[in-house]
Amino acid sequence: MSVSSAIGSSSIARVLSVVKSWLGRAETFAAQHHRPLVTLSYAQSLDGSLTLERGKPLPLSSEVALRLTHQLRALHDAILVGIGTVLADNPRLTVRLVRGRQPQPVVLDSHLRLPSDAALFENPERPPWIATVESSQNSRWQVLEARGAVLFSLTPDAQGKVSWFELLPLLYERGIRSLMIEGGARVIQSLLEAKLADQAVITIAPRFVGGLKVVERPLSTWDVLEFPSFAQMEVQRAGEDILVWGRLCYPTQV
Ligand SMILES: NC(=O)c1ccc[n+]([C@@H]2O[C@H](COP(=O)([O-])OP(=O)(O)OC[C@H]3O[C@@H](n4cnc5c(N)ncnc54)[C@H](OP(=O)(O)O)[C@@H]3O)[C@@H](O)[C@H]2O)c1
Repeated sequence: MSVSSAIGSSSIARVLSVVKSWLGRAETFAAQHHRPLVTLSYAQSLDGSLTLERGKPLPLSSEVALRLTHQLRALHDAILVGIGTVLADNPRLTVRLVRGRQPQPVVLDSHLRLPSDAALFENPERPPWIATVESSQNSRWQVLEARGAVLFSLTPDAQGKVSWFELLPLLYERGIRSLMIEGGARVIQSLLEAKLADQAVITIAPRFVGGLKVVERPLSTWDVLEFPSFAQMEVQRAGEDILVWGRLCYPTQV
């Protein structure tokens, strides 16, 4: 084993053991809150960019961090992204770089824009769950259902999008106790505004991009002292990247 891969494995081991300890309380947490425990995980550049331009993919993570993403996926019951990420990256949301169980893919897709030839349909064991505000009367509903997708029609939130406060309890009812959310920017923004990310594992790649920021505008109208922050933060190098992880706290949360 090379020195760099040895460093990578040991940093992955540490973060994995912390995430496992978080997830050890997922069952109890989920029963108490009637929703899954939520882990936010994404990769950003030094300047906080997720990608160069909205709608275009940009590989940011090193091999070590990518492997970690797959390990984290395998530890969660489900993995969620917004339709913007599906249209940009066409992800499979599967565990491939390591051995492990396949999480249930979930897409926030208010108006059923998911293409019926999306890579998400390539795993017949885990066809995607789609959270939408459309009804079964929408012609796309039948198309996606015919491809194997399971669709949930939810009440729109104030912005006409899928409501986190309706979706997360529904996922709980469906047996999901732990949920990993990978992005993109709009999903991360609304998740943080809803104060529903319980913990985060963030990869920081050592380069500047000047692109689409993780959080694009001030979070709601919060006072600066009320921003979400890590309760206990850990930092470690992983290959050429930096990993930052911890539980999130929201000062005004009751
Ligand atoms: N570096 C990384 O780790 C990483 C990870 C993921 C994505 N990305 C990048 O991020 C970009 C995509 O980000 P994005 O902001 O354009 O799209 P996104 O966050 O993936 O998806 C946003 C879309 O999801 C739908 N949505 C439904 N309910 C929502 C809710 N409650 N909150 C937020 N969104 C909701 C909305 O579309 P509808 O109104 O049509 O429903 C919304 O426009 C891509 O370029 C991708 O490459 C990078």
